[in-house]
Amino acid sequence: MFAHRSAVARVFFACLASLAAFAAQAQRSLDFEPYAVPREGAVAVTLSRDSAASAAFVEVDAIADGALSRAVANAGFLGDRGTLLNLHGVGPYTQVIVIGTGTDAPSPRLLEDIGGLVGQAGVLSAAARIDVLWPEASLPAAGAHLALGVELGQFTFRQYRNPKPGQPVLGQGSAVLRTADADASRSAWSSQWQPVAEGVRFARQLVSEPANVIYPQSFVERARVAFEGTDKVRIEVLDEQAMAELGMGAMLAVGQGSARPPRLLVIRYEGGRRGEAPLVFVGKGITFDTGGISIKPAQDMWRMKYDMTGAASVSGALLALAKRGAAVNAVAIAALAENMPSGTATRPGDVIRTMSGQTFEIMSTDAEGRMVLVDAIAWAQRELKPRLLIDIATLTGSQVTALGDEYAGLFSRHDDLAAQLQAAGAASGEEVWRLPLHPSYAKDLESPIADLRNGGSSARAGAGVGAFFIGAWVAPELPWAHLDIASMAWRDDPALPTVPLGASGYGVRLLDRFVRDHIESGQR
Ligand code: BES
Ligand code: MN
Ligand code: ZN
Repeated sequence: MFAHRSAVARVFFACLASLAAFAAQAQRSLDFEPYAVPREGAVAVTLSRDSAASAAFVEVDAIADGALSRAVANAGFLGDRGTLLNLHGVGPYTQVIVIGTGTDAPSPRLLEDIGGLVGQAGVLSAAARIDVLWPEASLPAAGAHLALGVELGQFTFRQYRNPKPGQPVLGQGSAVLRTADADASRSAWSSQWQPVAEGVRFARQLVSEPANVIYPQSFVERARVAFEGTDKVRIEVLDEQAMAELGMGAMLAVGQGSARPPRLLVIRYEGGRRGEAPLVFVGKGITFDTGGISIKPAQDMWRMKYDMTGAASVSGALLALAKRGAAVNAVAIAALAENMPSGTATRPGDVIRTMSGQTFEIMSTDAEGRMVLVDAIAWAQRELKPRLLIDIATLTGSQVTALGDEYAGLFSRHDDLAAQLQAAGAASGEEVWRLPLHPSYAKDLESPIADLRNGGSSARAGAGVGAFFIGAWVAPELPWAHLDIASMAWRDDPALPTVPLGASGYGVRLLDRFVRDHIESGQR
């Protein structure tokens, strides 16, 4: 009876949890209107560091009889880029959000950062409508870039938090982008940038979810829902049986300690010419990384729920490409497994035969990301004959130490591809820093009993050695890049304008931008 009741309760709570997971996020809708200064309500204006205040600032200040400039002076607010002054009750305005733009000339990235700060302030605001004022006409479709920023900045993940009684409703209503070319902004938003925002949101939601909700099979199900009704997309899933038939010993080894079996999720988008070789993006999808038998310390282990960020990013990037109808053939592969210690788990010293036939000896079961990636990469080369391959992974603590939270680590044997990714990083705001793949790293990966081992001795160039291991499964002539995003997947204090605290969705904007600027543009 009790067993029965608890089973019923479990089903009930599972349903509740999935309902909550799909409940609408509290967020502002976006709208585009011609530039005009409202005489009341909530507005957002910019202020630069050196030159005269923006035209919108001057107009709002005049309507408020100088109260805005007095408040700014009293606050000692200088208008540095990335700073924000949140004022309430300025003349007839309920709220004035002043965003500093420093000394930087207007650019799409600046607009996204402005929008991002408005989005973050908007989450905490009770205003039913916030008018974002941008009179400057020099940048085309300025409103679309502001909107992308608002959307990225207003991301929150609160569906498991119950509202406290009497809590005011915040972050609801709309943000209205008021720019010189509202119509062009609206259409650029819906055709070009909203899809990117959706891809980032999808990735962030997956990454934010805890590992009791997102495991390999539930990741697959979320992806199916997200791509439902999207044209030119086909989804294929390999289960353990398929992996065993293909000889994917490394995928299976990582997954074998868990009660949640591994999956290889393949999302194909055919927006380019028929039969044209696809771009392939492979993401590390460890839905939780305990380290396995080489178990991690308890401190901060919760973070390893975001060890599937690479998989979320490639899926989100594909969603963006498909939703904006990019003229490209692209495939996202999510290598999904949970790395757990148990009586069935793989051990240090175990020798693994991978799909390509190449073998390796496990030095650490905590070097599991490279294990799942090499089978996924071998499969991609055999099945898809890619035009180029980019893998993206929260691969090493060493990358965090080397680069901090400003840059992902980029490794490539192809200078052209590396340069294109660096350019896409700068343009999208998801920056990368190139690190070497020195031939000497091969020494760290020598095993006495197998072709390779999965890790070097500690305190060596850990990120480079990890990258080098992966490279041993990539055909030398195939343009390939590896992105180690361990430090970029999760944003810790301080937030960035377009990256609130928590899951960043890093990689979606970078890959979308890479396709836009370096693949699609070359075809026109
Ligand atoms: N998922 C971790 C890397 C990581 C660390 C990601 C911190 C995000 C934040 C990865 O699987 C790992 O454990 N790497 C080991 C590799 C080592 C055993 C060769 C590491 O970096 O220590
Ligand atoms: Mn690990
Ligand atoms: Zn890991």
